[in-house]
Amino acid sequence: MVKVLLAGDLFVTPQVLADALARHLPEAQTAVLQGAFPELPLTEIGGVHEAVGDEDELIAALRGVDVCFTHTHPLTERVIANSPDLKLITVCRGGPVNADRDAATRHGVALTFAPGRNATATTEHSVAMILAAVRQIAQRHGELTDGQWRGDYYRYEQVGPELAGETAGLVGYGAIGSRVARILVAFGMRVRVFDPYLRGELPDGVERAADLDGLLASARVVTLHARLTDENRGLIGAREIALMPSGSVLVNCARGGLLDYDALCDALDSGHLYAAACDVLPSEPLPPDHRILHTPRLTVTPHLAGASKQAAQLAADIGAADIAAFARGGRPLHLANPEVMGVGD
Ligand SMILES: NC(=O)c1ccc[n+]([C@@H]2O[C@H](COP(=O)([O-])OP(=O)(O)OC[C@H]3O[C@@H](n4cnc5c(N)ncnc54)[C@H](O)[C@@H]3O)[C@@H](O)[C@H]2O)c1
Repeated sequence: MVKVLLAGDLFVTPQVLADALARHLPEAQTAVLQGAFPELPLTEIGGVHEAVGDEDELIAALRGVDVCFTHTHPLTERVIANSPDLKLITVCRGGPVNADRDAATRHGVALTFAPGRNATATTEHSVAMILAAVRQIAQRHGELTDGQWRGDYYRYEQVGPELAGETAGLVGYGAIGSRVARILVAFGMRVRVFDPYLRGELPDGVERAADLDGLLASARVVTLHARLTDENRGLIGAREIALMPSGSVLVNCARGGLLDYDALCDALDSGHLYAAACDVLPSEPLPPDHRILHTPRLTVTPHLAGASKQAAQLAADIGAADIAAFARGGRPLHLANPEVMGVGD
């Protein structure tokens, strides 16, 4: 019988993992390892990214265990090399960044992940951030709770744009970008997308932009939804922001590495951009004296876009279905290293 370590944390809890596993593989034996995310922030550990936890504690917990079902534990080269019973790592995140894929492959350990698990949560947050930026909700709330009634923001030169009738430029059209597009179309926006890997037809109301510069130059609201890669790090810098029309809005709920935040703050300080909103930041946590926190018309949230009850449950459900397929001799749907199971990508 397969033994599964439920290495949950305080978001995708061991109980959420256990409930999902019970639906898909009720006969599994389980053990529990409690992780500390988000009480402790995500960090680099032993060559893997965005992880929390102690490698030695994980090695000890993986003794006699076939499957590590985790969210944020560090599945480093050292952990994998010292866990000889391990056959499958299931990371229930959109990208298995806290697992060393190459080490898993070398040791014959299959690795699965959970793409799209928080696409709905992140979509809803992205749209909320567009609205928060355009309507300056956080800023007006802060002034009011500080005792200031700022009715002067009703002056013509102070008011911002509406979304209906304006153009939205989406950079990246994957799980989240395509969902954001549907909502912005419903708001009455003209939606243009730039995604060099985009294939196939687009739905009504969504157009393909031939290049990034053209997209930026045509959009009142630009929102980033690309995955961060070596090729697109720093994609939006001073030159790109200068291409955006004066008075436009920039939103980043994807990854901090896509955007030059100094250039963003400069464009807000100069008034070139009307407003901006970011859920992802150049360093996380952000130092309390960082310029971003003092830049006008910049709304920030602490990397929370993917946080919802359903995202945790769906993450566990996608992972548990793959564990059940693996335990029954089948092929998991979301393999990150298919070569381990003798199949091509
Ligand atoms: N803030 C959060 O809490 C949170 C939560 C989930 C995902 N995210 C981030 O949101 C982003 C989108 O996630 P997703 O699930 O939609 O990913 P996805 O893989 O489904 O889609 C990403 C898209 O980016 C495109 N892309 C790659 N390079 C590009 C480039 N140079 N220019 C334009 N497009 C490019 C890809 O072709 C793909 O269609 C990712 O950066 C992800 O890390 C953030």
